[in-house]
Order: sequence, then structure tokens, then C-alpha cells
Amino acid sequence: MIGAGQLARMTHQAAVDLDVELTVMAQADTDPAVRAGARYRIGSHADPAAVSAVAALGDVVTFDHELVPAAVLARLEGAGVVLRPGRRALGFAQDKLAARADFRAAGFAVPAYAPVRAPGEVTDFAAEHGWPVVVKARSGGYDGRGVMVVAGPADIPPDVGSTEAGGEPAGPAWLVEEYVDLVAELAVVVARRPSGAGVVYPIIETTQVDGICRHLVTPAATVGPAVAAEAMRLGTAVADHIGAVGICAVELFVAAGGRLLVNEVAVRPHNSGHATIEANRTSQFHQHLRAVLDWPLGPTDPVAPAAAMVNLIGTADCADPSHNLPTALRVSGAHVHLYGKESRPGRKIGHVTALAATTAEALDVATRAVAALLTP
Ligand SMILES: Nc1ncnc2c1ncn2[C@@H]1O[C@H](COP(=O)(O)OP(=O)(O)O)[C@@H](O)[C@H]1O
Ligand SMILES: [Mg+2]
Repeated sequence: MIGAGQLARMTHQAAVDLDVELTVMAQADTDPAVRAGARYRIGSHADPAAVSAVAALGDVVTFDHELVPAAVLARLEGAGVVLRPGRRALGFAQDKLAARADFRAAGFAVPAYAPVRAPGEVTDFAAEHGWPVVVKARSGGYDGRGVMVVAGPADIPPDVGSTEAGGEPAGPAWLVEEYVDLVAELAVVVARRPSGAGVVYPIIETTQVDGICRHLVTPAATVGPAVAAEAMRLGTAVADHIGAVGICAVELFVAAGGRLLVNEVAVRPHNSGHATIEANRTSQFHQHLRAVLDWPLGPTDPVAPAAAMVNLIGTADCADPSHNLPTALRVSGAHVHLYGKESRPGRKIGHVTALAATTAEALDVATRAVAALLTP
């Protein structure tokens, strides 16, 4: 697995259960998966020789992020390395502009968007679609980094027309899109084998604040069963369309009237699937390994009527939330996960999941445990 963050750490836990010989490629020996005891190699995911050396250690190469440059992926595929997911599917997660264009051409509804080569193109777009607009980095963004809501011409970041000289993807480094008045955001988590055989988890409703996922509930609390069913159908179709292998998470916007728009895809275990560890019969991390190794997938049924997950996000007030662990563990029913990461404001350093009879009850339990962890 290229990358050794919390996704690799939780995949390592699943690998232990199945006695899968997982090696992670880490940037430092303090990375979350390494701290959890995963076998590792240190190196840069952008260094073709280093990635090739790690690839030679296993039968299958998979990923905890989407940062391996396309040129490196092409070289690996050319050398016969089995990438799961493959380069094409990873491309959809690496390039928001190309993904929007491809999805639209394939008939999937997406927000109105345009590439941006100069600040004036943001103004032109807003003249047609209205303010505010959303300006986004074409690649490399995550947790809302690289996503800006722009209220008017004065807010347009001056460097928005810059292109990544010599970088990839070639061309404009930014896009602008309509600001969607969100009724809700949904995530569809799918697991797909190389043959395309797949399973889908029950619908997940996520809540983002400043672009970063704060919490999720399942089943969805805001949308009814018809929208939820349509979302699962749409998410599965998108995962099929991109040819994902392993876990694929499809982020959807719900606009007025229950209209669904495809936001973005991730082709790896995803934050929106973390509750599956306790809340579903097979966790997304087991499922990811099973899918990339082309083994039978497990059932996705929920094991409780409702579940919630709250991310533990570092704050300036609390230097080390792990000191509060004993207090958080007093919250009955709270499943606490700490990633072994140094706390910094805005950084995901853990999460808490709770199961209950209702999503409100589950959210209350998980929220109380997170509040205990974040007590200054
Ligand atoms: N066009 C949009 N309209 C309204 N909200 C948006 C739009 N694009 C992004 N957002 C908000 O910002 C969040 C992060 O944007 P996203 O494109 O998913 O980037 P990231 O790669 O950081 O997850 C979304 O989950 C949503 O809450
Ligand atoms: Mg997103």
C-alpha cells in the first residue's frame, strides 16, 4: 500500500485478521500505519524507483491516497505491476476538472463548472451563474484545502490563474463551479473486484464544515428512502463507470428537490466509510483488501438500526487529546479510534463511532466522546 496514514493503519488492522502480508510505503517512521506496527519501507510516492522497489515486494499495489503522479503510475503499469485500482480509475480522483468533464459527457449530473486560466474567467462564470461561486484547485486538494467559496470579484484569489508549470495535469490548475445550495451531502461506498462484481454499503449522510468532514450518520437523516435509493444506484453506476477496484467512495450533493449531483470520487478506503468498522457486517478496510486481492466480498448490512461517526479534529485549545482518552472511554457505547498523529488545528487525528436505535442518539454518544477528548 502506497501511503501510511490512518487509512493504511486501519487497513493494516484488517490485514492482521486475514494474515495478508501488507507492506506500507511511508514517508517517515512516525506515520500512523508504521506506529501501528505495519511492515514498511520509507520513500517518496513521487520517486519512481522507490515506488517500484516497494511494488516488487507484493503481488498487488494499492493506495491510501491518490498522490502518486500519473507518470509514475504509467511506468508501473508498463512494467507489469498490478495496480488496484488502476491508473484510469485513479485519474478520476486526481483531476477534478477531467473528472467533471468525463462525468458530464457520460450523462452524470455535475455542478456547472469551467476551467480557470485567469481571474477574469471567474468573473465571466459568475456573470452567467451568479455569485457566490466555488473556486477549486484541480488536483492535490483534500479536507477542503484547495476549495474556496468566492462571494464576489474582490474575493478572487490573485494566483487563481496560475498554471502548474511543468507539473501535472497539464493545463489550468483551477476550476470554478456554481455554488450549490446543499440540502445534504451523501457518500456512497462501493467495493469492487477486478471483474466488476461489487457490493454497496447503505447510504451515508456526511456533514462538512469548512470543507472538512465533521460527522456522518447512516441511514441518511435528511433525505427520504427514494433519494437514498437513487443515490446508491448513482454511486454504483459511477464506480462502475470509472472501473474502480477496491473501495470507491462517491461523494454526492443533494440540491433542492432531491436533485443529485456527483461531486467527487475517492478510490481507496474513505472517511465516509469509517463507521463500517463497527456498524456493518464487513468493514470497508476488510472489503478493500478482499476486493484488491480478488477475494469474495462480505455482506454490507448494518448491524444496528443507526450509526454515527464524529471525526476528532485537532484544535488550538487542546494540545494532546489522547491525554483525555480515559474520560472519553467513560462514554458508554463510544468506539474511540486514535490515529497516533500529533494534534494540530484542523487535522484529523481520530474518530469516534456509536451505534444506536436512532441517528440522533448515535450522534449524541459520539459527539460527547469527542468533546471529552477535546477538553483543554
Ligand atoms: N460547488 C459547491 N457548492 C457548494 N458546496 C461545495 C461545492 N464544492 C465543494 N463544496 C463543499 O466543500 C466540501 C469539499 O469540497 P470537495 O470538492 O469535496 O473537496 P475535497 O477534495 O477537499 O473534499 C464539499 O464536501 C462541500 O461541502
Ligand atoms: Mg470531498
